[in-house]
Amino acid sequence: MKPIKVLCMALLLPAMLSAQKKPVTKVPQLGKSPLKDVVAAMTLAEKVRLIVGMGFNIEGIPPGMLPPMDPADNIAEKVVGAAGRSHAIPRLGIPTLTLSDGPAGVRINPIRHKDSTKTYYATAFPVGTLLASSWDTALVKRVGVAFGHEVLEYGIDILLAPGMNIQRNPLGGRNFEYYSEDPIIAGNMAASFVKGIQSNGVGTSIKHFAANNAEFNRMNLNTFISERALREIYLKGFEIAVKKAQPWTVMSSYNLINGTYTSESKDLLTTVLRNEWGFKGYVMTDWFGGKNAVAQMNAGNDQLMPGTTIQTKEILEGVKSGKISMAQLDKNVTNILNIILKSPTFKGYKYNDKPDLKADARVSRMAATEGMVLLKNDDNVLPLNSTKSVALFGNTSYDLIAGGTGSGDVNKAYVISIDKGFANAGYKVDASLSGAYKAYITDQKAKRPKPKMMFLAPEPIGEMPLSADLLKEQANKSDIGIITIGRLAGEGGDRKEADDFNLTAVEQAMISDVSKAFHDNGKKVLVVLNIGGPIETASWRDKVDGILLAWDPGLEGGNAIADVMSGKVNPSGKLAATFPMAYADVPNAKTFPGKELPGAKSANPLMGNPAEVTYDDGIYVGYRYFNTFNVKPAYEFGYGLSYTKFDYSNFKLSSKTFAGKITASVLITNKGKTAGKEVVELYLSAPSKMLNKPESELKGFFKTNLLKPGEAQLVTFVLTGYDLASFNTATETWVAESGDYKVKVGSSSLDIKKSEKFKLDKNINVLKVHKALAPASEIKELAK
Ligand code: BGC
Repeated sequence: MKPIKVLCMALLLPAMLSAQKKPVTKVPQLGKSPLKDVVAAMTLAEKVRLIVGMGFNIEGIPPGMLPPMDPADNIAEKVVGAAGRSHAIPRLGIPTLTLSDGPAGVRINPIRHKDSTKTYYATAFPVGTLLASSWDTALVKRVGVAFGHEVLEYGIDILLAPGMNIQRNPLGGRNFEYYSEDPIIAGNMAASFVKGIQSNGVGTSIKHFAANNAEFNRMNLNTFISERALREIYLKGFEIAVKKAQPWTVMSSYNLINGTYTSESKDLLTTVLRNEWGFKGYVMTDWFGGKNAVAQMNAGNDQLMPGTTIQTKEILEGVKSGKISMAQLDKNVTNILNIILKSPTFKGYKYNDKPDLKADARVSRMAATEGMVLLKNDDNVLPLNSTKSVALFGNTSYDLIAGGTGSGDVNKAYVISIDKGFANAGYKVDASLSGAYKAYITDQKAKRPKPKMMFLAPEPIGEMPLSADLLKEQANKSDIGIITIGRLAGEGGDRKEADDFNLTAVEQAMISDVSKAFHDNGKKVLVVLNIGGPIETASWRDKVDGILLAWDPGLEGGNAIADVMSGKVNPSGKLAATFPMAYADVPNAKTFPGKELPGAKSANPLMGNPAEVTYDDGIYVGYRYFNTFNVKPAYEFGYGLSYTKFDYSNFKLSSKTFAGKITASVLITNKGKTAGKEVVELYLSAPSKMLNKPESELKGFFKTNLLKPGEAQLVTFVLTGYDLASFNTATETWVAESGDYKVKVGSSSLDIKKSEKFKLDKNINVLKVHKALAPASEIKELAK
């Protein structure tokens, strides 16, 4: 033995002996020890800490209006402006997760702690409604990939998106955040978005689960719905998203379904979501949603956001009194920890706060062009082939609405207005007109009252009056007149019929007067709709030559609008929501959004008064109603024009009788002179001996590649038994009825190009499910 080693041993010996004397009790560590050991090592207080979020302060909300948060939690946020945080438990190696809105871009504060030397702007992508109007799941995934990278690089673990409630009524205040009136579109768009975001190793929260279709008294709205309407319309999209994409989390909604808050509904969150659909992540409440923390835990609502001290107390008392078992709490905690294990924060990811905003702006612009819908194009007024100069009318030509307000808003570094977009594309934009508008807008904005709460939409400013002389001068000077009609909406309120769904008198006059002046001069007039949900078009559309529905197109909106109008991009968007002739034509127009209950008033105005609504339109939502009851819409579901024409040929079904599945294929050929993409829509008319059925329902859709003139693409769809089935409440079964089925392919829900029949010999009970979420008494629903 060499002397040096002997010396070392001598030095180490006392330390080794003392270590032997005091055995180290190993505290299990998340990720290193089995999860069940970590859970077993947690004290009750620690479990409750994980379940109840860290609370938050919203700027502009007076203190005392929100339920109290723990003052000890008032510590500096890692990501300023993020909507929520979970508690860390350092003893067990559990870090804080950061959760941030929202569906159209990362919503965080651009400036931290008054230090403007560094900014944290995020890309405003086009809103959900525009993305869905692309009918292109690959595109939506691509947006998700870019967007999710911003989530990751800003140090966020879970994005509170996508919003995917059904656009049940055109006045729904948050429709712009959502995808469609149809659950097949909503579900597939959400699944693609979730896959894109989560491919970055960050999570999503599909929201608001479920039937949160209005903003009216949203935290207290009791929504009565039949089991069938729930299963086929309001849950279906969530089912698709969960089964196809396994979002890390689900956000339960504010409303009640048939008397129970969704966050307190075991039927919804455990029976349906976990047991039937196989959801593996965790469920969080919407912010301050629901009433009873113990009921929420028992229902399977694992995390309470943003978290209040009252909830902590309630759960602790619930355990003491036996209203909640330790086994249940352990399930909730385990669900949360399983997701924490996957999070970038847990993995120690070194985010850089420098996402590639330039690259993402390009994705945003490209996506915007894909979801814009050409509604009208008389005499091929678009694209603007020989136009050199444009006169732009309407406030939003100069002040584009990139997205909505509330948690769906994004703090972006800039917005490209339409005048800027046209100038960038090389058009001459009349300077005197734009000068007048800009001065008017600045002046009016300074005068308008501030919204009562920071996140509410401000009052719109009225359109600038246009004198006859100004119109005459503009019609002389410019090659074409373009009018933009804008609408801003957002969380906390629904839209109105007067002066919102319907145009204001001043807007009507603007359209009439501009059209007359330009038409008198032999010039054309176009309208751009910068809106987040349908408006009335029937009364004025004949006055103009073309209409482009640009939706809320994100921060590059002006450039994207110019891309489409100039013909750089051939429009290929189609409506994922019906544009009715009049608001009264909407099946639930008379009962939307519901009524307040007499007497009971909420002490807190933020929470809204107790109110209720009955979905007596049942499954007849959107085109399912219009097409079944032959109500003519202004623009039907699935509608949208192109600068080229497509031919549908070789339509074939794999068989004339159904045996397990059937394949439909159709050849799409570009017969025009411009390259373009076609959205091919597949509808199914099912036999209706036992159950009432819509005239037809969308069962598949596909956007072709960019087809050159003369080029063709074969498009194939597969229909399974589940696609054929409707929900039979009497047996709690999805049933495909025997009889003749008609498969239709077309360019819109009314523009069917080809159809073929197949037969199903015997009823198939495709899937038996549980009795869940049933209303106490039968709902009298609209029927054919
Ligand atoms: C909204 C959610 C949002 C949450 C956090 C709620 O008011 O309904 O959509 O994710 O706030 O900001």
